[in-house]
Amino acid sequence: MITVENLSKSFATKGKPVIALRDVSVDIEAGSLFGVVGPAGSGKSTLARCIGLQERPDRGVVRLDGLNTGTLDGRRLREVRRQVGILDTKSELHGERTVAGNIAAPLEQLGLDGPQRRTRVGNLLDLVGLTQRATQRPSELTAGQRRRVAVARALTVGPAVLLADDPTADVSPEEAGAVLAVLDRARAELGVTVLLTTPDAGVVRRICDGVAVLEEGAIVERGSVLDLVGDPTTRTSQSLLPAIETTRAQSARYERSVDVVLIGFASIGALLPEAATRFDVELATIGGGVTKIGDTPVARFRLGLRGQQSDSALAWISERGAHVTHTARGPQGVAAA
Ligand SMILES: Nc1ncnc2c1ncn2[C@@H]1O[C@H](COP(=O)(O)OP(=O)(O)O)[C@@H](O)[C@H]1O
Ligand SMILES: [Mg+2]
Repeated sequence: MITVENLSKSFATKGKPVIALRDVSVDIEAGSLFGVVGPAGSGKSTLARCIGLQERPDRGVVRLDGLNTGTLDGRRLREVRRQVGILDTKSELHGERTVAGNIAAPLEQLGLDGPQRRTRVGNLLDLVGLTQRATQRPSELTAGQRRRVAVARALTVGPAVLLADDPTADVSPEEAGAVLAVLDRARAELGVTVLLTTPDAGVVRRICDGVAVLEEGAIVERGSVLDLVGDPTTRTSQSLLPAIETTRAQSARYERSVDVVLIGFASIGALLPEAATRFDVELATIGGGVTKIGDTPVARFRLGLRGQQSDSALAWISERGAHVTHTARGPQGVAAA
């Protein structure tokens, strides 16, 4: 469990100080994959560096499993730092060493030798899907493969936490999925808690359980990705849910239209037809679509409704967990509360 409490950090510059983090608090469950999303300059790397104990905050506390890291120094600080693997876009691989040699390097520094080291490197090559490339040099690999080597190297000494600062930066979109899959596998197979930062909400959509949205150093939204997506007023849901495009002609055929967010196969497949039958209303999907959040399908639909019991049908749907937003009433599509 990582607990960040009221973290603030600014940097002295020639002009006025730059405030990188403003009173940031966030809890990250052990074994989860947590995303920090925000535009360039919003403070993502500074937050990651504070959690990785590479940077000291001006105010606030980072706790790792309850341990207040602000009180550590010297040898104890180095020991705790070893619990945190770091993958950042600046960490270069050794160009003259093989893939396996790069992954082994942190163990060599610790003086671990022989069969133990070979087993560990073999397992990590397997985890990142590069067993066939063990004897190649980094220059013979693609950018995405090199990033996967860097992930393996960050995991070599068996950290409890992996900080992946913008892991898909400079990786082609075709290869980004494989890099993210490796992070997911590290969490699933090694039980590592993964904190990733990214400017791309799509990365959060693919693999994160929890998310914090950073803007100008402050957290503007945080929570479980599915909870945030289920509420169409959140930024997370606005950036991740399918857009709704309907024509006026489509909505004009109904007495009213509403937007719904449905989460999960059962809900998407069964809720609307069942409501239509139960309340004898005509209910049609006139816009929106289905996407996936991790493995969970999530739909945002615009529905057209006609029938006396449409209010009851909508109440019934929302009691079953769907988020219903009333968008427009009447054939002109006039917005109503
Ligand atoms: N070492 C530093 N010295 C001065 N300013 C910095 C330093 N590191 C970060 N900053 C500033 O802090 C803000 C947040 O930076 P950063 O954490 O790198 O954001 P992000 O990773 O989201 O792009 C930016 O305005 C950046 O210019
Ligand atoms: Mg950054």
